[in-house]
Amino acid sequence: MTSTKIPSIKLNSGYYMPVIGYGTFNSFKADEVRDATRVVLELGYRHIDTAWVYQTEEEVGDAITPKIKDGSLKRSDLFLATKLWYTYNRPESVERMCRESLKSLQTDYLDLYLIHWPFAVKEGKERGDEFKTRLPNDDVDFIDTWKAMEELVIKGLVKSIGVSNFNIQQLKRLLAADLRYKPAVNQVEVHPYYTNNELLDYCKQENIVVTAYSPLGRGAADSSDPYQPANVLVDKTIQKIAAKYNKTAAQVILRWGIDRGYTLVPKSVTPARIKQNIELFDFSLTEEEVKTISNLNQDYKCIHQELYRDHPEYPF
Ligand SMILES: NC(=O)c1ccc[n+]([C@@H]2O[C@H](COP(=O)([O-])OP(=O)(O)OC[C@H]3O[C@@H](n4cnc5c(N)ncnc54)[C@H](OP(=O)(O)O)[C@@H]3O)[C@@H](O)[C@H]2O)c1
Repeated sequence: MTSTKIPSIKLNSGYYMPVIGYGTFNSFKADEVRDATRVVLELGYRHIDTAWVYQTEEEVGDAITPKIKDGSLKRSDLFLATKLWYTYNRPESVERMCRESLKSLQTDYLDLYLIHWPFAVKEGKERGDEFKTRLPNDDVDFIDTWKAMEELVIKGLVKSIGVSNFNIQQLKRLLAADLRYKPAVNQVEVHPYYTNNELLDYCKQENIVVTAYSPLGRGAADSSDPYQPANVLVDKTIQKIAAKYNKTAAQVILRWGIDRGYTLVPKSVTPARIKQNIELFDFSLTEEEVKTISNLNQDYKCIHQELYRDHPEYPF
């Protein structure tokens, strides 16, 4: 198997993050992520994006650990990112949850730990209750969660810390607090039907790297989902540009993200697509093509936490 070398981007923490990572959300079949992660590593991906809530950390760990043990991979070559779930935003839960993620990933440090959502709700009786019923708000300010995240860096459990799903006002409030470390990353939704320009510009100005989630607009992931945008992979404008470069629509969309200067974490459990999604470094788009794709914006978001829309810190 030939392996692709993926370029990295420097974070404000001084560490480097590969521009393409592997997303592991929404894979619910046993062993699927473990098997896909093995393929991913063979192909040259080094950045893996998971989260406590995805329940894929352990399978990622299962794929990585034997390779580190047999010497075919060094831990320091990997960039492992995971996230603190919003039922655990209380400062006293942060280290415990980080250690739980470390244990599942079978590693002793994280490259990046993100506050998954800016709002906090109380823990349900069972894991996943927060998706079934509207759980009560928890009275936690994300600034206090952030201070607990900073402690993880001081303790050496985490190299860089960041946020996810924070809007500009929330970032401004966080940056105005007396911080020891600035957020290195804001992971948010970006794809051609949701270009998120204002937030991207603000993050650039503040030297916060954006990671695009659902960078393929979730592909044709679930046509029964009312929030699934029209499948951006069959967009005629993108397909025309793809034909010019002899690339697929997915590759053009990912390259558009790289040319706009952010990092992306596409998810696929299909080996041929996993491979496609990093074969991005033998072409680039013209400025005009980047603009043409950006003009496809429809402000069409896929990801919502609908039940928490009335939360004062709901970000969208
Ligand atoms: N921070 C957050 O709140 C948040 C929210 C959502 C997602 N994320 C992160 O972002 C990652 C990616 O987002 P996502 O999973 O929502 O959506 P996505 O990466 O935009 O799309 C995934 C879908 O596209 C398909 N696909 C992937 N590559 C393809 C290709 N080359 N050609 C055609 N179809 C392709 C996949 O199919 P197959 O798998 O069947 O191949 C899957 O159905 C997640 O896995 C997660 O790590 C974070």
